[in-house]
Amino acid sequence: MTPTPLSLTLRRPDDWHVHLRDDAMLATVLPHTARQFARAVVMPNLRPPITTTAQAQAYRARILQALPAGLCFEPLMTLYLTEATPAAEILQAKASGIVVGVKLYPAGATTHSDAGVTDIRRVYATLEAMQSCGMPLLIHGEVTDPAVDIFDREAVFIDRVLLPLRRDFPALKMVLEHITTEAAVQCVRDGDDYLGATVTPQHILLNRNALFSGGLRVHHYCLPVLKRERHRAAIMAVLASGHPRFFLGTDSAPHGRHAKESACGCAGIFSAHAALELYAEAFASAEALAQLEAFASLNGPRFYGLAPNETYITLRAQPWTVPHHYGQDETHIIPLRAAEEVSWTLS
Ligand code: NCD
Ligand code: ZN
Repeated sequence: MTPTPLSLTLRRPDDWHVHLRDDAMLATVLPHTARQFARAVVMPNLRPPITTTAQAQAYRARILQALPAGLCFEPLMTLYLTEATPAAEILQAKASGIVVGVKLYPAGATTHSDAGVTDIRRVYATLEAMQSCGMPLLIHGEVTDPAVDIFDREAVFIDRVLLPLRRDFPALKMVLEHITTEAAVQCVRDGDDYLGATVTPQHILLNRNALFSGGLRVHHYCLPVLKRERHRAAIMAVLASGHPRFFLGTDSAPHGRHAKESACGCAGIFSAHAALELYAEAFASAEALAQLEAFASLNGPRFYGLAPNETYITLRAQPWTVPHHYGQDETHIIPLRAAEEVSWTLS
């Protein structure tokens, strides 16, 4: 066993997949993300979704408006791909300089995905424009076919949709978001510089037993849903190997307590309050702390063609107890690890 260092200094990281929501929820969660990360890729699944550059610009302004004084944070905006997204909108997004990717939600796959894509062939003209101008496609990689078992939806998506898409658009940059399976690890590992993946803290810390330990754990429910231990282990192993095309994306997705603790609870885990600390725990358990900086701070910027951050942060091996909740009323959120310890502290 390599002894765990008492502290770890790394370049300030970025979060390549986060849900910041809007209004009161935005004000509640944004300080947590901005405290840790210099930049974050902000997902567009608001109601209504962010489908135009003008909407992305307005949303970006609201985020900056909600930023507490003294915090320096750059929101990297995304558009929500619909079957009606014109090629011209892609060119405008690219020209704006504030949009870094376009998000593909298969219709019905997850929270607020009803405006998403029912058949990938219906967006081929838009994808053509994205490939030509160098706009990455950010993918929620799950089929929605009700005949496919929910635990198999990512693997089936890779075969049915992702691999054909890669053949048809070999020069379109794609990020397979929040990967959860061995199949996804292998697909991205076998890919080239046009294919990357984000990994959440929950998918390397927990397996699907966490959904049912001692009862139904709604706060461990997210999409793609947690998988078997061997999948968690495969994801952690590829991160421990230092592979350069896997990077940090928390998928921190806050929902009010009542929306989670209900007969039909929403999918989404809030992790922004302790994101980096949770990743550090997972990497420490795998004796891979030496790979944390590249995963958190270097691989993402390289994939997106941006410079890494020039400032540094320090993590100390010192436990703290996560609060029972953050926010109040409709912003009352139960965070990952609520009322339990996290073994690293961000100073
Ligand atoms: C996300 C949300 O709540 O917006 N939920 C989730 O479980 N991850 C949507 C998503 O990224 O799938
Ligand atoms: Zn997400």
